[in-house]
Amino acid sequence: MADIAGISAEQAHREQALVEEVVASFERCQDDRLRVVLQALTRHLHAFLREVRLTEEEWNAAIAFLTEAGHITTDTRQEFVLLSDVLGASMQVVGMNNPEVGDATEATVFGPFFVADAPEIPLGGDMSFGAAGEPCLIEGTVTGTDGRPIPHARIEVWEADEDGFYDVQYTDGRLAARAHLFSDADGSYRFWGLFPTPYPIPHDGPVGRMLQATGRSPMRASHLHFMVTAPGCRTLVTHIFVRGDEQLAIGDSVFGVKESLIKEFVHSAAGTPTPDGRDVGGREWSRARFDIVLPPGEGGGLHVSG
Ligand code: BEZ
Ligand code: FE
Repeated sequence: MADIAGISAEQAHREQALVEEVVASFERCQDDRLRVVLQALTRHLHAFLREVRLTEEEWNAAIAFLTEAGHITTDTRQEFVLLSDVLGASMQVVGMNNPEVGDATEATVFGPFFVADAPEIPLGGDMSFGAAGEPCLIEGTVTGTDGRPIPHARIEVWEADEDGFYDVQYTDGRLAARAHLFSDADGSYRFWGLFPTPYPIPHDGPVGRMLQATGRSPMRASHLHFMVTAPGCRTLVTHIFVRGDEQLAIGDSVFGVKESLIKEFVHSAAGTPTPDGRDVGGREWSRARFDIVLPPGEGGGLHVSG
């Protein structure tokens, strides 16, 4: 039991007795994992309450906060994912469940904007589907940690448009800036997307108010999401970030940046021919390389999309 300053030994004893009573109430739970998790949750929750000496007013405010998070959550808006993200809980869970294996690509947060069953595009195809932004060619390989190419790996990609919004944040039902493709027989892949832009996580709800009250920014560093799956390999959920993006120095609101995921994006002036002959309408375009390395393992983590 931690020492708590300013309370009598009798008070501390009463508080500890309650913790032990609640922990014991789970003792008959038949599911070992559930029992362990709930008993630890009880201990840590009470330790927190006792450490900060939470007032009844603060407890009511916390309940109101969670109630509001529930009310604002819909099929396309997941306030609890945001809360987990801004508290660093999402990244902690990602880190614990994706330990480093050789030179395997690092994982980062899933975020709330993945949509299952995004359309398939061919190698070299365009995942923007008309979303606004500078055309950007992304190319690389998918290999295992043993260096062998992984053919036909499924690569899901999704990103915000240049105004900082995902398609699902618009109310017109559009589908844009998301797709899936498969790596080629030699493990290579390429597709056209958009040069990533920084954007704020949704901050018009209780999580946004919490960030504002604590002087924190809702901004995320510019990024493009990937989820890569292949038989016999650990599923990779990650992003690539843009070297030189000012937001990298300022900070990422969900703690998702890892140095190994920051990539060089090279811009080409308007009118420069593209390597695959794609017509980008005479606009400026950019290009980045992302070589993906998957460790052996099982696919399929638990992902909440919203
Ligand atoms: C995202 O990158 O899409 C995201 C991640 C965490 C919270 C909100 C958005
Ligand atoms: Fe994102």
